[in-house]
Amino acid sequence: MGKITISTLNRMKADGEKIAVMTSYDASFTQQIEAAGMDVILIGDSLGNVIQGHESTLPVTVDDMVYHTANVMRVSRRTMVIADMPFMSHGTPKQALDTAGRLMKEGGAHMVKIEGGAPQLETVHHLTARAVPVCGHLGLMPQSIHQLGAYRVQGRGEHEGERILKDAVALQEAGAQMLVLECVPAVLAEEITRALDIPVIGIGAGVETDGQVLVLYDMLGITMHGKPSFVHDFLADTGSVQGALAAYVKAVKDATFPGKEHSFS
Ligand code: KIV
Repeated sequence: MGKITISTLNRMKADGEKIAVMTSYDASFTQQIEAAGMDVILIGDSLGNVIQGHESTLPVTVDDMVYHTANVMRVSRRTMVIADMPFMSHGTPKQALDTAGRLMKEGGAHMVKIEGGAPQLETVHHLTARAVPVCGHLGLMPQSIHQLGAYRVQGRGEHEGERILKDAVALQEAGAQMLVLECVPAVLAEEITRALDIPVIGIGAGVETDGQVLVLYDMLGITMHGKPSFVHDFLADTGSVQGALAAYVKAVKDATFPGKEHSFS
């Protein structure tokens, strides 16, 4: 199998082939994830929760992200790798370019992910015009937890749904080449996926997106604060890490995950 690039993912979207994405933060799990046939690895700032034990992703630093990205890239051979831009690392286009430069040059990431819609358009344009590939992130944005008050479904109701759809189209127009949609109603995720040319990856966003992403520790049943309703524990089904990862890839590819019980209306 050849190396996965953004062209591969665009072709997969066009062909209706689902894209399997998993978070990873270290070398050992990255080897297991690649061996299972994953298409994309995300070094998520969820590492603040699952690796560092923080209550939120806010304390994660650019140094943390560079360190974990480099650990992943040291052994990654085939997957496309995206690194998160952590909280307060992309407040201005210039700051965002400095952060993305570190994630790509020191960490080795192929793409960076930024949470946010309208307020991020100038930054997304600034980065993509300078050869930094960007993945957007809409819906539930964990870096906004103190504005939101709780981790809950976003985009319910016509007005909210339209705003997210508008942001998604605007991010694509600003140059974003992928989009993550987190915790939105399945019908809204489907509408956005159809409206965009770029691959849309869902988490808690129903089965109709172009692909799925989960936090590695969640899908292995290692959760400190209980399993989110949109997660399935694949390790419980299979009894091994390798089995769990392979079962996840298969379930994403044949669209048996997520089921209705993992989705929101
Ligand atoms: O940080 C992360 O792991 C993420 C995923 C939940 C999409 O952003």
